[in-house]
Amino acid sequence: MTPSVGETPSIAHNGPVVRQDFDSGLHQKYRYASYLPVWNPITELEALEPFDFVDKGAVADKAKPHLFSALKTRPNASITKITPRVGSEVKGLQLSQLTDEQKNELALLIAERGVVIFRDQDFKDIGPQKQKEFAQYFGPLHVHPVEAQVAGHPELYSIYQGPDNTHRAKRSSSRLTNTRFHSDVSYEHQPPAYTILTMLNSPPTGGDTAWVSTAAAYDRLSPPMQNFLSELRAEHSGARQAAQAQREGHPVLRAPVTSHHPVVRVHPATGEKSLFVNVSNTTRIIGLRDDESEALLGLLFRHLATALDCQARVRWEEGTVALWDNRATVHTPIPDFAVEEREDEHEKLIFRHAFRITTVGELPFGVDGLRTVW
Ligand code: SIN
Repeated sequence: MTPSVGETPSIAHNGPVVRQDFDSGLHQKYRYASYLPVWNPITELEALEPFDFVDKGAVADKAKPHLFSALKTRPNASITKITPRVGSEVKGLQLSQLTDEQKNELALLIAERGVVIFRDQDFKDIGPQKQKEFAQYFGPLHVHPVEAQVAGHPELYSIYQGPDNTHRAKRSSSRLTNTRFHSDVSYEHQPPAYTILTMLNSPPTGGDTAWVSTAAAYDRLSPPMQNFLSELRAEHSGARQAAQAQREGHPVLRAPVTSHHPVVRVHPATGEKSLFVNVSNTTRIIGLRDDESEALLGLLFRHLATALDCQARVRWEEGTVALWDNRATVHTPIPDFAVEEREDEHEKLIFRHAFRITTVGELPFGVDGLRTVW
């Protein structure tokens, strides 16, 4: 049976016992306790089967009449651009009430704007099953091979950073910055098209997320560089994430996957070209000498991380849902808040808690039909 959001955390599903690393005592009255993270040490994930993907954005009416008429006619509904090149914010519309035509148009809007933020979502009575059904409309759901899940719902990746769960914060302690722009699980042969991140609880300040338009970043490159990159593939590997999970004592549910994706990816709905490399998962450029590959990837990673004129940064609130296109953006959480502290005189715990649902997309293709291989 689907747990409702108000239920206490279950620690067993489908037979095997799951491990929870948080202190359940701290969260006894927490409304979203059933979404806290667990790790399943027994389930083994099957390799993802190839399938034909049709992007919902590609079948949408380009003028988006159904979505925009709802935004125009509902009282208090609005849509605004977060920055000129990336990100839009919608208020006054509930994702759970969109029709299929509106969902198709939303998919196109996400592809065009990179990320679309919906505020004030009333998901408190909806529950994980309905949230999965919504996401499934856009494509099959991905199960993360190493990250924590919501008990009973492996497709929900639970993101929790609090005083009783600090392993995420420790990951970046040896680097100069806590940020790391990436495209979700880009090492999959058919990597995710869309990600839907729902914020359940956020710190009073901090814990934002930033996105970069990889299409705008591509546009900034000189034509000779664009042409050079368009002929190349890069290796994306899940090995780093798997090794990190093992170091943290967390299970690895499937052997790490490696794919050679086009460095310049063409979007199936918009036709836009974008840079498809990221510092978390891209390990080398195929066919270049090691020093050349390192220098080129270093240039591209720096370009993505520093292009503030291609970026948007979003402040979260309870009930904010972000939907982004992993083919048109890279993103990073900004873990800049201290979970050891309490919120002012109220002694309230400071923690960030969200869950992510990711939908699998097409086998990537690049310029002149360059395809992913492995
Ligand atoms: C992610 O990297 O997919 C999660 C982003 C976030 O926690 O802000």
